[in-house]
Amino acid sequence: MREAILLVGGQGTRLRPLTLGTPKPMLPVAGVPVTVHQIERARAAGVERIVLGTSYRADVFAEQLGDGSHLGVEIAYAVEDEPLGTGGAIRHAAAHLVSGPGDPVMVLNGDVLTGVDYASLIEAHVVADAAVTLHLVRVSDPTAYGLVPTDAHGRVLAFHEKPTTPEEIVTDQINAGCYVFRRSVIDTIPAGRPISVERQTFPQLLAEGELLQGVVDDSYWLDLGTPWDFVRGSADLVLGVAPWPGHVPTPALILEGAQVDVSAEVGGGSTVGTGCRVGAGAVVRGSVLMDGVSVGADAVVADSVIGAGAQIASGAFLSECVIGDGASIGAGNELRGGARVWPGVNLPATAVRFSTDA
Ligand code: GTP
Repeated sequence: MREAILLVGGQGTRLRPLTLGTPKPMLPVAGVPVTVHQIERARAAGVERIVLGTSYRADVFAEQLGDGSHLGVEIAYAVEDEPLGTGGAIRHAAAHLVSGPGDPVMVLNGDVLTGVDYASLIEAHVVADAAVTLHLVRVSDPTAYGLVPTDAHGRVLAFHEKPTTPEEIVTDQINAGCYVFRRSVIDTIPAGRPISVERQTFPQLLAEGELLQGVVDDSYWLDLGTPWDFVRGSADLVLGVAPWPGHVPTPALILEGAQVDVSAEVGGGSTVGTGCRVGAGAVVRGSVLMDGVSVGADAVVADSVIGAGAQIASGAFLSECVIGDGASIGAGNELRGGARVWPGVNLPATAVRFSTDA
């Protein structure tokens, strides 16, 4: 039986306040939790059983995903009492695997949207008889990532986590957070203590002379760690830029029960959640409105994430903002460039007029 471990226990600090109540992998992109997108792609690649490595808000996963039968997979839960880091979480989840020592086990970061062909990654791993095979992507600015140089045959030469000097930028290949492990290699990770797979396990395996293989793939890839990448990923799914089997690309996804005035302009890959209301003349562009959001007449919401039940009053202007669940933005407010409003906060109406350029 083909198995995968999905790492979903991080606190998602960069996505606060959205992640105060909901773990990042359960936030909806294009109306569907990130984890569900990943499970569907893994299942399409032949994965039948998934172990979710949970820690932060572990309860939310079990409540919403259950035993996985409605998603066509079997889900087991490995719940960490204390966060064990990425490596510790993989080791902890191994207790729930049924794979034999030589079997390939996929390991996926829970916050990545990707079009990589999982089946061919497993195939490459088996052919190379590698200890671990890593999916690598090329990026123009690798400074925020873990660099993974390889030789001409794809053999990993080193790991450089988040380089700071130009000399350290030895390649544009980065760790994409998707691996295939030989099961027995997972069992060599020390149990019961926090370990980083990127900073500790992989460099140690290299030092021990194990074969770590990198597979560079140029298909769609996006880490949803920041609010701006989160809205971009959601819009890419809606617009058909990111792969989503069965989805018909559309300028905006209006979910069941949402009411959008005919004179409102909703596009740029926006998602309007269940029960939302968008008033006359409002503009919603490249944004995610979670369920039950109300956007008043002539308000503008661009490139922003609006938490469930939040209210954006008439004439308010939001660009690149994160608004927490149930917050209320009064008429006339103008928020831009990274503003974050915590859940339940009430910004009173203001008489000051704002400019309308986004
Ligand atoms: P930030 O706090 O914003 O950096 O986000 P994060 O907590 O999700 O951390 P990061 O993006 O580096 O994590 C990469 C992946 O590993 C995500 O899918 C996390 O859910 C997962 N992860 C990180 N730490 C742990 C952990 O201690 N346990 C488990 N089970 N998963 C983890």
